[in-house]
Amino acid sequence: MSLQNQVVSSLKTLMDPMSRLNIIEAGILQGLNITESGNVSFILELNTEYMKNGISLKERATALLEKIPGVTQVQIALTAQRNPKANNKVQKRVPGIKRIIVVGSGKGGVGKSTTAVNLACAFQTMGLKVGILDGDIYGPSLPRLLGINQKPTSEDGKTINPIEAHGLKCMSIGFMLAEKMPTIWRGPMVQTAFQQMLRQVNWGLLDILVIDLPPGTGDVHLTLAQTVPLSGAIIVSTPQDLALVDARRGLEMFLKVNVPILGLVENMSYFLCPHCQGRSEIFEHGGVHKEAQELKIPLLAEIPLHMSIRESSEKGIPLVQDQPASAEATIYRQLAHQVNELVASK
Ligand SMILES: Nc1ncnc2c1ncn2[C@@H]1O[C@H](COP(=O)(O)OP(=O)(O)O)[C@@H](O)[C@H]1O
Ligand SMILES: [Mg+2]
Repeated sequence: MSLQNQVVSSLKTLMDPMSRLNIIEAGILQGLNITESGNVSFILELNTEYMKNGISLKERATALLEKIPGVTQVQIALTAQRNPKANNKVQKRVPGIKRIIVVGSGKGGVGKSTTAVNLACAFQTMGLKVGILDGDIYGPSLPRLLGINQKPTSEDGKTINPIEAHGLKCMSIGFMLAEKMPTIWRGPMVQTAFQQMLRQVNWGLLDILVIDLPPGTGDVHLTLAQTVPLSGAIIVSTPQDLALVDARRGLEMFLKVNVPILGLVENMSYFLCPHCQGRSEIFEHGGVHKEAQELKIPLLAEIPLHMSIRESSEKGIPLVQDQPASAEATIYRQLAHQVNELVASK
């Protein structure tokens, strides 16, 4: 096992007194760094109430890590949490935004961003006022998917105007920075950037804000769920088993933080031939359906693997706008209708 893995598994044995999750899952451990010489450093972000426990947590972590061969030095900084956790019910709404829906997936490359932008466009065609926020700080995809290459403006230097495109109000860190972020960015910086994009953007009045979450179940997810009321989460998965295992992890995380799961979307569900319109079940079909039944959550849509979906994305015009009459656009609109009904009834 690599030193990094040994350190992480050791740290996972320690509990966050607040959320009762381990300190990694709880998202209170930030900026873990392990140097070649074996110097391990990180920050523990604790709720002020628990700062006292923090000192013993720090001692326990130090003792555990020092036992690992190869660890030469342990440096842990304790900081008071800026973002209070959900359990003490201090979620703060974003003024003007009626509902926030997050689109998540256990892993990347399953078509989460594609689904999020098309869903947002489909809401817009229903006459709703819609915003879309790119939750991926390291690998933002909205600039490409929405064909946006202009920088947002700010009148007062404090708040940012979102970019308006395809009838949506759009925000992504990618509008402000080069496409790929250097991974030197650490937890706290990512959190700050994300919270600013959520709260310091002039969204105006929105019926729905769709957030395209980064893949997996990291800090951004937890902090988001804990700091703002979310109307629900949609989990995107592909039919392969591996993706399902990941999707399950995503589900569990939302359940832990009490975010209603609206349902699963199976993407790249089957192949629709652009020439003959014939349908081929490339992957064993029905896996997501079965999983959804077992987990007692609705399967909201089965989206085919179709050239036109990828081609529209590459053009920077979501398919729902680019080819509104296509069968796939209809699927996205049906998805939007279902989701809208689900959140309206909650
Ligand atoms: N249903 C689909 N049919 C064809 N291509 C798709 C479909 N969904 C996504 N893609 C393509 O797959 C790639 C990954 O999609 P993306 O939405 O960026 O995934 P994620 O956000 O999960 O990483 C992109 O090139 C996208 O155009
Ligand atoms: Mg993406």
